[in-house]
Amino acid sequence: MHKKFLLAALEQARIGQGHCAPNPCVGAVAVQNGTIIAQASHRCAGTPHAEQLLLTQIPPKMPGVSLYISLEPCNHWGRTPPCVDAIINHGVEEVVFAYLDPNPVVAKNNSSEKLRAHGIKVTHYPVDEITEFYKSYSYWTVTKRPRVTVKIAQTLNGKIGRSVGERVILSNTLCEEFTHQMRAAADVILTTAKTVSLDNPKMNVRLGQEKQAKPVAIIDRQLSLDQQSIIFSTAAHCHVYHCNEREVSYPNSTLHFMPMKNGVMDLDAVISHLGGLGYHDVWVEAGGTLFSALHQERLVHRTYLYIVPSILEHDAISAYQQSGIFDRTHTISWHAMGDNMIACLDWQED
Ligand SMILES: NC(=O)c1ccc[n+]([C@@H]2O[C@H](COP(=O)([O-])OP(=O)(O)OC[C@H]3O[C@@H](n4cnc5c(N)ncnc54)[C@H](OP(=O)(O)O)[C@@H]3O)[C@@H](O)[C@H]2O)c1
Repeated sequence: MHKKFLLAALEQARIGQGHCAPNPCVGAVAVQNGTIIAQASHRCAGTPHAEQLLLTQIPPKMPGVSLYISLEPCNHWGRTPPCVDAIINHGVEEVVFAYLDPNPVVAKNNSSEKLRAHGIKVTHYPVDEITEFYKSYSYWTVTKRPRVTVKIAQTLNGKIGRSVGERVILSNTLCEEFTHQMRAAADVILTTAKTVSLDNPKMNVRLGQEKQAKPVAIIDRQLSLDQQSIIFSTAAHCHVYHCNEREVSYPNSTLHFMPMKNGVMDLDAVISHLGGLGYHDVWVEAGGTLFSALHQERLVHRTYLYIVPSILEHDAISAYQQSGIFDRTHTISWHAMGDNMIACLDWQED
């Protein structure tokens, strides 16, 4: 029963995915007599936590109510009051949570002990799906760096786009939909000025009727972006990374000066800066040059290769611009997407 209700809490947590950073996404359900009577999710940093929203839906001191929460409830003041105090004051009888918060402030104050001191039954019940869900939050909390996921669509001969001429759409609609789901779940999308100038992409989320603007980070070493690029109006905000002293402004953007390393922008510094902005999950959509460089520098945690049954001409742009970029321990899984295939490579941490 614990697993069933914690997975229901996870479904609630997923609603906030891509909106809550630097906070974790949290979902919660209230159960009475084996039935879910209320559910809530944390929607955005600075707004009430899932537990607080849940408690507003149940009368105080209601008998036999258990709260199932995806993450250990918080016990400190941030922008909102501690959830542990709200649970105690509401007269809840039982709390079951799945994931121990790695935030040292929460760990120090021991939520379970506080709740138990007020006669509340507390169970920590780990669930694999929820542990996986908090991977990025956990990694960011410990390292202050985001997890990086890179996608590239390639032909059977490893090409990703034509070197000149029109933009080519390689992957099928199932892969496209997957891309939009991944964009939605990420905190920020990373691309390059080269891809922006060649493709003029929107880099927003378009799923059915839903349209959602995301923060977008753009590597633009020389500040060469065209101010008319559509991305400035389709992104929630743009973070433009550059190495140029020139005074330039772009619409809806913040410029960040980055150091150079071996004649190119220091990508490690960019990723670290994105972590400093509070992003836990970076989704990368760019060409083969950035794809190869990120792998070469071992900055990627997960790679999605969309494999498309077509061939582009020999001089088309390659996904693999350096040798040995995949020489690193990894696991791989394959997912059929109609007539395309997605290979998911999870790189082992060094
Ligand atoms: N198939 C797909 O999934 C997919 C996705 C997106 C885009 N594309 C296609 O990709 C093509 C562009 O690919 P591309 O490989 O030419 O360009 P890209 O990877 O998008 O961007 C290349 C730029 O990134 C910067 N860069 C390169 N190496 C770097 C490094 N080590 N460190 C930091 N910055 C570095 C460089 O900027 P500076 O020269 O200013 O240093 C370089 O011009 C487009 O045609 C687009 O359609 C395909």
